Amino acid sequence: MEPLDLNRMPVHLAVIMDGNGRWAQQRMLKRVVGHQRGAETVKMVVEQASQLGIKYLTLFAFSSENWSRPALEVRALMALLKKYIRQETARMMRKNIRYNVIGNRSDLPDDVNETLDSAISQTAGNTGMVLTLALSYGGRQELSAAAARVARDVLAGTLSPDAITTEVFGSYLDTGGLPDPDFLIRTSGEMRISNFLLWQLAYTELYFTETNWPDFTINELHKALADFQSRERRFGKTSDQISKGATY
Ligand code: FPP
Repeated sequence: MEPLDLNRMPVHLAVIMDGNGRWAQQRMLKRVVGHQRGAETVKMVVEQASQLGIKYLTLFAFSSENWSRPALEVRALMALLKKYIRQETARMMRKNIRYNVIGNRSDLPDDVNETLDSAISQTAGNTGMVLTLALSYGGRQELSAAAARVARDVLAGTLSPDAITTEVFGSYLDTGGLPDPDFLIRTSGEMRISNFLLWQLAYTELYFTETNWPDFTINELHKALADFQSRERRFGKTSDQISKGATY
């Protein structure tokens, strides 16, 4: 396995878990089986990320656009989510992990929301990794909803248009309170952002692998993190400024 520097882990790791359907189809299995195997990869990544000291892990579990999939697949994904959250809450308690959700929760079935509420409140006092599930999430939807909230506050007189800095606007997003991701992994060979965290990914290091999500292993995760650690993050500055530790 790649040697990793535990002092240089991404603070916030985001993942687009793609390729469950293709993994299943390549094996003449139903797409749902791919999602079930994908949930096993989720368990591994959550466990590893928390063990490696990553503070925030955000998983794109269901997009705003995924509602247009066949009803059977949507139902199976919702059932799988509910089962995962129920089964894993005890482990989250043992590992001191806190659940968080971003996305349009009012789209989700009541039973899924009840399971989420219970998991969120049970884990609310945990101080270790924050596991954010993006559910019925779309970056453009998040941005337009935030713009509407900003407009309401301006109309109500509680926010001045001159006060809308990037920090203030960021606090109106679903991710308000979370740092921006340092590293994004997308599996299955697609090189797109697909409406995920559009605002928050501005300076994120991107990593794409051909591996489908159910086949993504600990070794692959470590390889991706080693790649992150080999990169120089400049945030618009010069290489010289970074190596001299300049903060201007
Ligand atoms: C993308 O594969 C994956 C999804 C739309 C759902 C992700 C869900 C899981 C990994 C399982 C449940 C999640 C949790 C948090 C327990 P795809 O179906 O788009 O694959 P394809 O592009 O090959 O069709």
